Amino acid sequence: MKTSNTNILLLVSLILAFEFLILCNGQGTLLSKTFYKKSCPKALDIIKNVTSSKVAANSALGAKLLRLHFHDCFVRGCDASVLLDPVGTGQTEKQSIVNTFLSGYDVIDNIKTAVEKVCPDVVSCADILALAARDSVSVPFGKPMWDVLLGRRDGNVSLLTDTFVQLPAPFSNFTSLKTLFASKKLNLNDLVTLSGGHTIGVSHCGSFSNRLSNFSSTSNTDPSLDPAYANLLRTECPTNSNPEVEMDPQSSLSFDNHYYKILFEKKGLFQSDAALLTNRDATTIAQKFTNNKKFFEEFGKSMQKMGAIEVLVGKVGEIRKQCRVVNSK
Ligand code: HEM
Repeated sequence: MKTSNTNILLLVSLILAFEFLILCNGQGTLLSKTFYKKSCPKALDIIKNVTSSKVAANSALGAKLLRLHFHDCFVRGCDASVLLDPVGTGQTEKQSIVNTFLSGYDVIDNIKTAVEKVCPDVVSCADILALAARDSVSVPFGKPMWDVLLGRRDGNVSLLTDTFVQLPAPFSNFTSLKTLFASKKLNLNDLVTLSGGHTIGVSHCGSFSNRLSNFSSTSNTDPSLDPAYANLLRTECPTNSNPEVEMDPQSSLSFDNHYYKILFEKKGLFQSDAALLTNRDATTIAQKFTNNKKFFEEFGKSMQKMGAIEVLVGKVGEIRKQCRVVNSK
């Protein structure tokens, strides 16, 4: 009798421990590459096909979706909170000034509609975003550039105010970048590697114009910026307007290690880029990425870690029917 009681107790504790694991979400340990294999075997192909057709019409899309996924993961974890539209007076992440230039929401909507037609209520918006980011960047390569682990669920909270504390700013110094990344369980290698995301895409002048004039009491221009490049940027960024410039000039549509090459030429666009070279270990990592193969390998690994930040799994969260709104109760 005593033994069977002990066994029952043991079983109950095991079940509780398992539930606890699910609730606490194991930072991606419960995500898997084959999550939709039985529940929606066509999901990955549908997502890839819609994404590819959108990239064919707009080659800049990879950068948009990569950044959207990054901004999703850093704020409340990869739970698609960045996709939520405001309801009533509540302000959501996408309304934050730091998210002003995010785009690609319509593409995620199109993908979700296509997936829902085949498997309603199965594939989360957070997983769709993670896959679309990977697939859009991968189009020019004709093969997936990294594995995406799946099984994320969608959150139902999105707060504008979270974005100010949880996202890095372009004027961040090395210490604050390292601390913020560490708070997401991302290490120095991840910081240097993921900053390589700036090998594609554009920035608005307002995100770095502080480096071009009245930078400090001793220097008009940020001394960590190449003076000739600063002059070029000044011509591209007239005052009173906020145009876009390529972050990795002449290579902003091509996903490669060119970001690190220009970084060493003091042409990283943001202070946060230049900040990487203020630390010896980070500099060593950046040097390693002058080898493209090494960069691709590490980028894939770091994307998996970023894609696992504070994910909701198991019974937590929901599978949204539409990516812009939480399900009604
Ligand atoms: C390390 C801290 C980071 C900071 C401070 C930062 C900041 C920024 C800023 C200010 C912009 C330009 C926004 C604009 O003015 O339009 C930008 C663009 C971009 N960022 Fe980052 N970022 C960081 C990390 C990352 C990471 C980890 C990724 C992805 C792995 C990423 C991917 C991108 C991409 C692809 C764009 C271009 C978007 C487009 O073309 O519309 N960034 N980032």
